[in-house]
Amino acid sequence: MTDDPLAHAKEVAGRYAAGLIEDGMTVGLGTGSTVFWTITALGERHADVVCTVTSHRTEALARSLRLVVVPPDELGRLDIAVDGADEIDPDLNLIKGGGGAHTREKIVADMADRFVVVADQTKLVEELGAFGVPIEALDFAPGVLAARLRDLGAHEVVRSPERSDNGNLLMRAWFGPLTDPEGLAAALAALPGLVEHGIFPHEMVTRVVVSDNQGHVVERLRSADAC
Ligand code: 5RP
Repeated sequence: MTDDPLAHAKEVAGRYAAGLIEDGMTVGLGTGSTVFWTITALGERHADVVCTVTSHRTEALARSLRLVVVPPDELGRLDIAVDGADEIDPDLNLIKGGGGAHTREKIVADMADRFVVVADQTKLVEELGAFGVPIEALDFAPGVLAARLRDLGAHEVVRSPERSDNGNLLMRAWFGPLTDPEGLAAALAALPGLVEHGIFPHEMVTRVVVSDNQGHVVERLRSADAC
């Protein structure tokens, strides 16, 4: 364990979620510094699971721990997927994609019967928006797309020097507080050339596992019978 309280909180939340995964399950592995600990814990206990991954770096980590990794199409559906988040609102809507992996993360979360989000408490917000909305876009007309994002209310649009694992552009757009995340998500999804955005509606989320700096875990279930 580390002396850094934030790093400790990430480790506690990530390891806790590994306890929700049983041998024999098919598992989606997210990307980031919190789910890192879920994957590490699965590797440490030689979990007998079949995994699909959301990024090249998660694939490298999982394989280094001798976890079985197969392409998503080989599984079709998953018993469970675990991933981090950049913001979590009280209704369990999420912003994801700080690591530029949100397109694959959304596909894998959507494949899962249960989608578990792991986070330190700094990710809990009253309203989504301060982080901005990560955008993956085709490298065809990014200026036109930025203008469309401004038409939808973005006051700032920034292009990342990084590319996604899919080879696409990564951008982030700030719209202020997201008072209607589902409405914005639908509007973004309708923009030509926008591959995927980082708003994950609460309907996708089964359970959120949050650790505070003392390593106390709080769980939020989307509904009482969700798990
Ligand atoms: C990557 C993501 C991550 O899950 C998100 O950025 C949280 O990362 P971390 O656990 O390192 O705080 O969406 O695209």
